[in-house]
Amino acid sequence: MSETAALHFYWCSQPVPFRAGETIAAALQRAGLSDLGAAVGGLHGRYFCGIGTCQACLVSVNDASPVEACLTLAQEGMRLSPALQPRRVEAGVSS
Ligand code: FES
Repeated sequence: MSETAALHFYWCSQPVPFRAGETIAAALQRAGLSDLGAAVGGLHGRYFCGIGTCQACLVSVNDASPVEACLTLAQEGMRLSPALQPRRVEAGVSS
């Protein structure tokens, strides 16, 4: 990869460019993506304190445990989604 190659991660399958050393939250904000989806208490996730205290910016990375978007450095190819995924209901069975 050349130094001028664009870096991207994916937010809900949408490619989002970022700069080396940039946090996930900073890249999402720069891309105009401020709604981070479903969050605890029926609220929507968002960037708020920027220091890891409020937990409003939790996102799931590669379908794993949530991380604070404001503290986590973006990495090439990571796949991000809202921390709380809608429950799947298939054939009358929820998961
Ligand atoms: S914005 Fe508050 S923890 Fe990330």
